[in-house]
Amino acid sequence: MNLMKSPSSVLPSPTESTDSIKKYLGQAGNDLINSFPDGAQLSSSQRRGIIARYTAVLEGNFIYWMTGAYMAVRTDEARNIIMENLHEEVRDCHPGMMRRFARAAHACPEASDAEAVNANLTNVRLFIGQMKPAPLVAMMAFFENFIMRFMPILEDYAARQGSKENEYTQVHGVCDVKHSEELYQALEAEIVAADDPREVEEYLYEGVHLLRALIGDMAAGAR
Ligand SMILES: [Fe+2]
Repeated sequence: MNLMKSPSSVLPSPTESTDSIKKYLGQAGNDLINSFPDGAQLSSSQRRGIIARYTAVLEGNFIYWMTGAYMAVRTDEARNIIMENLHEEVRDCHPGMMRRFARAAHACPEASDAEAVNANLTNVRLFIGQMKPAPLVAMMAFFENFIMRFMPILEDYAARQGSKENEYTQVHGVCDVKHSEELYQALEAEIVAADDPREVEEYLYEGVHLLRALIGDMAAGAR
């Protein structure tokens, strides 16, 4: 049985306007959020799989990717915003928080979970290594926004697995709206500073599309 809602296949074209960029990213985020089924419709094993694949991606990669963004950006504004984000991640040990969340839901990633996301995860890692400033910040802004909106769904899946641990989901939920908004500011600064117009006109969403495919893998086992 296919429990996935179909994502809309037609998205607005990229433009240089920040508002339309936010609109584009918001629409892509809506489609992704809608691709995760209601927890009550899933089996215990399907819920475990989603939590495990999410953990396999987030635990060891978020800080690495944000560090890549820090190394790539050209403006002080973006650099300061990203450093503040990194500082919080490291100081408060967010990977440890993620691990506690997965353990409490009996959903620590296994080899098969890592394998399920491997190809698209590799694509995102290679993209990060290209250090394209605005496209990289666009991807991280999209990621933060997705994470924030996904938290109630993730928390519900974990609760249905018997977990009472919700520090990770609470810290990254709506109270994290500041990080998401600030990354959009960082993106705006990097768009203004772009010296190659192709960075904005041609491949601004390259990382967003790669990340979207990877997040699709997280939901995929529920199909
Ligand atoms: Fe975090």
